[in-house]
Amino acid sequence: MIYLDNNATTRLDPQVLESMMPFLTDNFANAASTHPFGLSASDAVKTARQQLADLIEAQPHEIVFTSGATEAINLAIKGVAEQYSSKGKHIITVQTEHSAVLDVCQYLETKGFEITYLPVQSDGLISVDQLRSALRKDTILVSIMAVNNEIGVIQPLKMISEITHQAGALFMTDATQAVGKLPLNVDELGIDLMPMSAHKFHGPKGVGALFVRQRRPNRVKLEALLHGGGHEGGKRSGTLNVAGIVGMGKAAELAQRYLKTDAERIGKLRDTLEKQLLQIPQTRLNGSQTHRLYNVTNILFEGCDSDALIMGLENMAVSNGSACTSASIEPSHVLMALGMTETEAFSCIRFSLGRFNTEAEIPQVVETVKKVVGELRAMSGR
Ligand SMILES: Cc1ncc(COP(=O)(O)O)c(C=O)c1O
Repeated sequence: MIYLDNNATTRLDPQVLESMMPFLTDNFANAASTHPFGLSASDAVKTARQQLADLIEAQPHEIVFTSGATEAINLAIKGVAEQYSSKGKHIITVQTEHSAVLDVCQYLETKGFEITYLPVQSDGLISVDQLRSALRKDTILVSIMAVNNEIGVIQPLKMISEITHQAGALFMTDATQAVGKLPLNVDELGIDLMPMSAHKFHGPKGVGALFVRQRRPNRVKLEALLHGGGHEGGKRSGTLNVAGIVGMGKAAELAQRYLKTDAERIGKLRDTLEKQLLQIPQTRLNGSQTHRLYNVTNILFEGCDSDALIMGLENMAVSNGSACTSASIEPSHVLMALGMTETEAFSCIRFSLGRFNTEAEIPQVVETVKKVVGELRAMSGR
């Protein structure tokens, strides 16, 4: 199999697995226990917290470990909504956010919050002027993703955070697709809250984290979602997933080490793949070509149903939307927000590359896609 679905999830790096193994076998203690085994697990969690904090230039006590980005997003948005509701009940987000953000916002609408869903331009970028005019006195949170999971578009985070802070609101960015791939400095970018997920950067599934700013300019307060033993500074109770957290820390360390070389190598592979796929007649690139992460390309193949294309690409893993909503038969809300018709949105394929893709795979992918696109078009008489 040629795996080109790295935005859905990534292969566990063998070095990450190695780091986790002791905590799945001999050292299985609870990190909250005070005996030597517990202390050793707690030390390992401390190291992981530091490794993750280093990757995003945060302080270790600003990291709250969770079960993944979805939980971190829920904690951040619902936690802020509840904590700051006396100040206001208005939240701003964007139409192309991941369903984890959109669904939480829709839930909050049923609880009396008002949400503004900013549109995007045809390249997937928001208009900062529209953000400026959407901000109000009662806006408590602006939630705009760092990198879009379907088209890879990178939003101008620094500008967004400045505008948000001038209006007195908090800034959250869902950085699930950005962490470990882009250099992210939470101070430089003015980020107050940042959800992340380990399995998107070669860590294990079922573990994630939320960065919660505890220093100037905003000491963010959160109402917890999970109450219990008071773990993670009372923000997320529940026995820590030590092996998962250790894996996330190791994945963060590796991501930091490989950040530049991965970006260069994967970027070259993506560019070659994209260039050759776009030579197939009646194809088009979706989203901004310039403000975009290096690992992904989303291409429209006119006259081809994306499900049929995926089925035809037998030895390949690609995607036609977010894996998290792929059970739905709706067209991608991201592609629709770019202004596409339903038929166009149903004709797009996302190719997302990662650390384990090789140069040799690219010509095989191009050949197979060319062949299957040709077959599908011939069948529909195009
Ligand atoms: C941008 C973005 N946010 C959030 C999530 C949810 O992550 P998880 O399934 O790890 O909770 C994903 C996963 O696809 C994502 O791409």
